[in-house]
Amino acid sequence: MAQKIYNWGIIGPGKIARKFADGLQLLPNARLHAVASTVLERAQVFAANYQCPNAFGSYQALMDCPDLDIVYIATPHVKHYEHTMLCLNHGIKVVCEKPFSMSMAQTKAMVDLAHAKKVFLMEALWTLFMPSMEAAVAMAASGVVGDIHSAKADFGFYTPYNKTSRLFDPQLGGGSLLDIGIYPILFFQRLFGKPSSENIQATAVFTRDGVDESCVFTFKYPDNRLAFGHSTIAADTSIEAIIFGTKGKIHIHSRFHHAQQVSVFRYENGPEPEVHHFPYEGWGYHFEAAHVMDCLDAGKTESDVLPLSFTLELAETLATVADKIGLKYPEELLKL
Ligand SMILES: NC(=O)c1ccc[n+]([C@@H]2O[C@H](COP(=O)([O-])OP(=O)(O)OC[C@H]3O[C@@H](n4cnc5c(N)ncnc54)[C@H](OP(=O)(O)O)[C@@H]3O)[C@@H](O)[C@H]2O)c1
Repeated sequence: MAQKIYNWGIIGPGKIARKFADGLQLLPNARLHAVASTVLERAQVFAANYQCPNAFGSYQALMDCPDLDIVYIATPHVKHYEHTMLCLNHGIKVVCEKPFSMSMAQTKAMVDLAHAKKVFLMEALWTLFMPSMEAAVAMAASGVVGDIHSAKADFGFYTPYNKTSRLFDPQLGGGSLLDIGIYPILFFQRLFGKPSSENIQATAVFTRDGVDESCVFTFKYPDNRLAFGHSTIAADTSIEAIIFGTKGKIHIHSRFHHAQQVSVFRYENGPEPEVHHFPYEGWGYHFEAAHVMDCLDAGKTESDVLPLSFTLELAETLATVADKIGLKYPEELLKL
């Protein structure tokens, strides 16, 4: 049987949308079919770049686009809820960028609507589909470095203060936690599951506008395993992850959330690691897109690798960390 070609739409043709569209070009069963922007010319320029046949000057107009199979939502955090609900209400399948929404209530409403409509929905946690990440987690589970004792991960970059950037603007869900702290946290969740709220500790430094510039968090799990993470928009950090076991450690090289190299140190073998290489073409977003299309081929309405329960648990941990550091966004961003 001929392979089904999926027609993708994009909402919010900005920086990450370009990388995602580049990823689609690497997949023989994907086609960029439509782009929607609040500014028609922006959609037209983006579409022309990818030989995409349809460009719209509003997200609403995309809803009536014929032959559309699935939409990738790449607007700022604070718009994810509204744009996902718009698509789901039109019966359109969605992959939505991280963080999924600004509040637990919004995330739950998005998940509930997808379930009620039986429409595919997934958070675009591309890291979970990187071969290096899958291999490192599988190696840890296999006992190759003994019993897992703890893990650490960080994600930080220096960016100068810019009041209007979404990274600094509270009205756009700014701060390090939601933008990049989410990566160490989802990595810990993949390894250890969700920590209970009383076993989450966190502290942060805030910008003059009240979003977290830097955040440090530690999680403790029932079996005494520990995870410690760091995010910041005020300094370049190593952006690596290490899983520590009783007989060695697994180093996911920088940038750990889309690494091409993993080193496994086994103490019985001396100081030299076994080095595993995971080269890939492009930016790495094609792995998640390929997975989504495999799900659709199989008629699934959610991913088994990244089910909506994972997204709900991640949202809960993010909300707890935000609460513990005292991170507060304007009320109107959190409501349904
Ligand atoms: N998975 C990853 O690796 C990754 C990496 C970076 C970002 N992200 C996520 O992707 C999302 C977008 O990030 P980005 O850096 O690509 O954003 P961006 O380029 O700043 O903006 C993306 C689009 O969002 C709309 N937009 C921009 N500013 C807006 C505003 N003030 N109000 C309403 N809409 C606005 C615009 O769409 P229109 O043209 O339609 O107006 C813009 O083209 C974020 O949630 C971020 O967390 C993910």
